[in-house]
Amino acid sequence: MIKKCLFPVAGYGTRFLPATKAMPKEMLPVVNKPLVQYGVEEAVEAGIDDFGFVTGRGKRAIADHFDISYELETQIKGSGKEELLSSIRNLIDNNRFAFTRQNEMKGLGHAILSGRNLIGDNPFAVVLADDLCMGDEGGPGVLAQMAELYNQFRCSIVAIQEVPPEETNKYGVIAGEHMKDGLYRISDMVEKPAPEDAPTNLAIIGRYILTPDIFEIIENTPPGKNGEVQITDALLTQAKKGCVLAYKFKGKRFDCGSIDGFVEATNYVYQNIYKA
Ligand code: UTP
Repeated sequence: MIKKCLFPVAGYGTRFLPATKAMPKEMLPVVNKPLVQYGVEEAVEAGIDDFGFVTGRGKRAIADHFDISYELETQIKGSGKEELLSSIRNLIDNNRFAFTRQNEMKGLGHAILSGRNLIGDNPFAVVLADDLCMGDEGGPGVLAQMAELYNQFRCSIVAIQEVPPEETNKYGVIAGEHMKDGLYRISDMVEKPAPEDAPTNLAIIGRYILTPDIFEIIENTPPGKNGEVQITDALLTQAKKGCVLAYKFKGKRFDCGSIDGFVEATNYVYQNIYKA
């Protein structure tokens, strides 16, 4: 069973400046809830109750969000507003939250390695909170779908989505053998390839399940694209040694690290969840 989840949240969020100058992008609200809380709720639905955050300077608001605010709670106690805090209060009461720092921005692979002390020798999920994911209506969330596959296959799994061919340069892209129902066994992975160099249009999005041997592999992975330690490179090594799966999930994903994706997510959540 997957019980732990890592949130790498150390990035600068430059695409969202000036909003992210003094505030973490993971705290941007989609309607009335910060992005990071959607990610945590998705993980809880998958059976996870132990959360680790890899943060950086200027990210204190995330730690404060997952802590009790006594003054605020005393202030609104007994009023109708108490209900507005219940979702986050529930998460705080029933899960564990721990924080560590990535001192230098050396890439997603390096961020995940920085969280090693919070994970130990356990399989774990990774959520990039700026990808907001929703399962199909009435169906399980994306991490829950992946956790079920992990229980069956016991190896690392990345979530993938078909993207327009001209957008492959924004993603890690996989190639592999199709096993069944949107499940691929990875044979190749390339970080942000130009469309003409992309092996497919199957792009990795911000949901992973990783087996703990990935930490040692990352330690031995040299910086790749843009001089950053890429999780894609480490996963390709893992795929070559054993098995890594890619899963075309059932549901939707909004790239909330971009303005267009963020606005789309806001409209979707407002219409389909908030107003429903
Ligand atoms: P992004 O590529 O979206 O970078 O990182 P970013 O800095 O967050 O945003 P932009 O591109 O400048 O607007 C993907 C994820 O990896 C984390 C980020 O926080 C984000 O969740 N990350 C990336 C780290 O934690 N550390 C790093 O060194 C790099």
